[in-house]
Amino acid sequence: MTKLRLHLIAAAAVLCATAVSAQTTAKLKVGLMLPYTGTFASLGTAIENGFKLYVAENGGKLSGREVEFVKVDDESDPSKATDNVNKLIKRDNVDVLIGSVHSGVAMAMAKVAKDTGTLLIVPNAGADAVTGAMCAPNIFRSSFSNWQPGYAMGEVMAKKGIKTVATITWKYAAGDESVRGFKEAFEKGGGKVVKELSLPFPNVEFQALLTDIAATKPEAVFTFFAGGGAVKFVKDYSAAGLKKTIPLYGSGFLTDGTLDAQGADADGIFTALHYADSLGTPKDSAFRLAYAKSYKLQPDVYAVQGYDAAQILATGLTAVKGDLSKKAEFAAAVEKTKIDSPRGPFTVSKAHNPVQDIYLRQVSGKENKVVGIASKALADPGRGCRM
Ligand code: BEZ
Repeated sequence: MTKLRLHLIAAAAVLCATAVSAQTTAKLKVGLMLPYTGTFASLGTAIENGFKLYVAENGGKLSGREVEFVKVDDESDPSKATDNVNKLIKRDNVDVLIGSVHSGVAMAMAKVAKDTGTLLIVPNAGADAVTGAMCAPNIFRSSFSNWQPGYAMGEVMAKKGIKTVATITWKYAAGDESVRGFKEAFEKGGGKVVKELSLPFPNVEFQALLTDIAATKPEAVFTFFAGGGAVKFVKDYSAAGLKKTIPLYGSGFLTDGTLDAQGADADGIFTALHYADSLGTPKDSAFRLAYAKSYKLQPDVYAVQGYDAAQILATGLTAVKGDLSKKAEFAAAVEKTKIDSPRGPFTVSKAHNPVQDIYLRQVSGKENKVVGIASKALADPGRGCRM
């Protein structure tokens, strides 16, 4: 080989290395598509806070890349979701999408993410299909599937010997799937769902349905509501005089991030969720302290899910040295990692949903206190997922 050719090869290698390092250290554009108005507004803010806390703890960077945010208020409106997500991808050129809270919005995001190959991390919405029939190598969830807390509560209530339950929820994927998970476990355990009540999202006119529950006289009620709707439901349930006669149970969103507003009307309610207040682990205590210092607020499950969305992103990014085009390597790294979450360590299934403990909690004062583990290392069945 001539001297000139050797020089050319060496120069090409330097250029190549420079290109790779330029690519891996460029700013990382994170698109936050969350609700900042409406019944889920406080949930969106908590997710953003949690995500940003992890970034701040890492010097404003993820895997060496400075982070820049672009935000969209999705209003928990599925009819606007496709346009919103396309704006983030095509107009704002985001590298990664973080969203959303509402299951219908998240399903629209998952469809676009799947079609375009954009990395999506869902920091709340439980739509079973996101890590079921719509699963994809570039789609992850840091939260739960709707099936998970519902199923865990069905097992708990059947084991308590409760025989008849009425369910009440919003009529959309999150409500339907929470009730379906609950019913699957509760009826397997010998109970019977005697009435299924619902109202459109995000309505809060509960009176007629509460009258129906009183007339049906089930032994207990299971429910899925969250955010502002959960506050109103718990207060109306108590005001209708039902709290004393027909115990209210729920997936834990019913009383998470809501206790200040629900006050004594929430006291004693049992729920199942993958987080609880005062778990008392070193990781959770440090997280709670840092969150309270940064935001002058107590964290809730949504803040934890935001924090863990950032952790999942950091895990994958580190494995691919900042190069998000390496999708298979990113996914392989996340699949084999144990995420050190404030909720307790969890792994991510092949369908990319957390495999996690579901706690049984009871409201006491301003806290969702842990009573026990409702279901250990519960994995969503991932029905219909073919990667
Ligand atoms: C959902 O739509 O998936 C959802 C919304 C709020 C809390 C939990 C789940």
